[in-house]
Amino acid sequence: MEPVRDGPIGMFDSGFGGLTVARAVIDLLPAEDLVYLGDTGRYPYGPRPLDEVARFAHQIARELVERRGVKLLVVACNTASAAALDSLRDRFEVPVIGVIEPGVTALVQATVTGRVGVVGTVGTINSGAYQRAVAAASDDAELIALACPGFVEFVERGEFDSEQVHVLARALLEPAREAKVDTLLLGCTHYPYLARTLNDVMGRDVVLVSSADETAFEVRRVLSDLGLARPATGADASGRASCGRAEFITTGDVNWFEELGRRLLGPELDRAEKLSW
Ligand code: DGL
Repeated sequence: MEPVRDGPIGMFDSGFGGLTVARAVIDLLPAEDLVYLGDTGRYPYGPRPLDEVARFAHQIARELVERRGVKLLVVACNTASAAALDSLRDRFEVPVIGVIEPGVTALVQATVTGRVGVVGTVGTINSGAYQRAVAAASDDAELIALACPGFVEFVERGEFDSEQVHVLARALLEPAREAKVDTLLLGCTHYPYLARTLNDVMGRDVVLVSSADETAFEVRRVLSDLGLARPATGADASGRASCGRAEFITTGDVNWFEELGRRLLGPELDRAEKLSW
């Protein structure tokens, strides 16, 4: 199916994490429509075998591309990017953008000492995707890659800076503190919601980098290069900047998705649709 300029941007994650990327895309590209699918019925992806995550990613991509006609697909999930980015690009005609390379671009730009860290799910870190991407982007960066099982579950429960999150973060991030990294890449789209805790644990001198903004810039670049960007239509009759529409789909509990999603993303998430496979 050929992408058309008036189609929406499609985006998915295992749950709420991709809303960090959705926020950045809505802010950068306000004229575009967006369809976001949070697979909360099957989160977390991190502990699952990568071939299972790849199967989920293809099922979601078929829903977004073939049924909802999205013109570009953002895999707003590191675990799914590690598991399926290449095979999604092979299978679908629309451009497919992941979060790993944009995050690494931002990481390499931000570091001064070259001692850098990345934190992510077990699936992402064990896949080696970040280790490969950092080696390709920089000759001299020294990378420490740490899996952080448990972080995603705290976020999905809406628990961002409790004592328990701090205790877990102190234990998991100790090797990054010992390695004296000056920059830490949040290699899971859920983790920016834990930024206060991560900042407390790592200290103010360590720069936390998220892939959300860099991914939004990549979406803008690809849409514009392919002639798929909607023209910014300026102000409407009331003088407000005109806006695209954002739609949200969840495979899990709709009330929780609407409640926590609105807290995390903002007022654009006023309702969510339930999708059962
Ligand atoms: N937000 C996802 C990621 O970036 C997935 C987290 C999970 O479901 O384990 O990896």
